[in-house]
Amino acid sequence: MTVLRLHIEPLDEKSPVPFELLTLADPSKKQIDAYLSDSTCFVAKLASETVGVIVLAKINTTTLEIKNIAVKASEQRKGFGKCLLRYAEKVGITQGYKKLVIGKGNSSIGQLALYQKEGFEISSIEKDFFLHHYEHPIVENGILCKHKIILEKALKESR
Ligand code: COA
Repeated sequence: MTVLRLHIEPLDEKSPVPFELLTLADPSKKQIDAYLSDSTCFVAKLASETVGVIVLAKINTTTLEIKNIAVKASEQRKGFGKCLLRYAEKVGITQGYKKLVIGKGNSSIGQLALYQKEGFEISSIEKDFFLHHYEHPIVENGILCKHKIILEKALKESR
């Protein structure tokens, strides 16, 4: 039996940006372009196929932000999202950051569950963020996405 292992690495400069994955997490190509230039994009591969992506950006000397995380639809719920979050923690610790933060809409119930299961805690809410920054209304799980919920996790050498 062959067990395929997930391999995560920085996106090669010559490789195309995996927009089809990035837009699963963020419907605005404009927003994605805005943060990509100041971020590092990592891709997760199963054999040679890219199945996941995570984008990390320095906020200040102590804080690293996850700008985007996505797993190909057919590969979701297999633990790859957790692997990407843990990889981001390792990157943050190695680079000397104290805190990892992520923002998600109030309607993203599954994602908010995942982040809290992984030890992130809600730290603040940007009211009406999605109403002000996105052209079209976003509705998930029958809920209008209005507020950006910010979650954070202290980075410690443990895992
Ligand atoms: N409904 C409920 N819970 C969900 C869920 C959903 N649709 N998606 C993820 N979860 C939670 C559950 O707690 C689940 O645990 P369980 O499988 O034991 O029930 C856990 O997350 C799954 O973890 P994992 O398998 O590691 O996550 P994943 O590989 O499916 O990746 C995402 C998680 C969020 C990256 C993936 O669902 C995705 O790409 N979604 C679309 C893009 C997105 O919204 N990105 C985040 C915004 S930046």
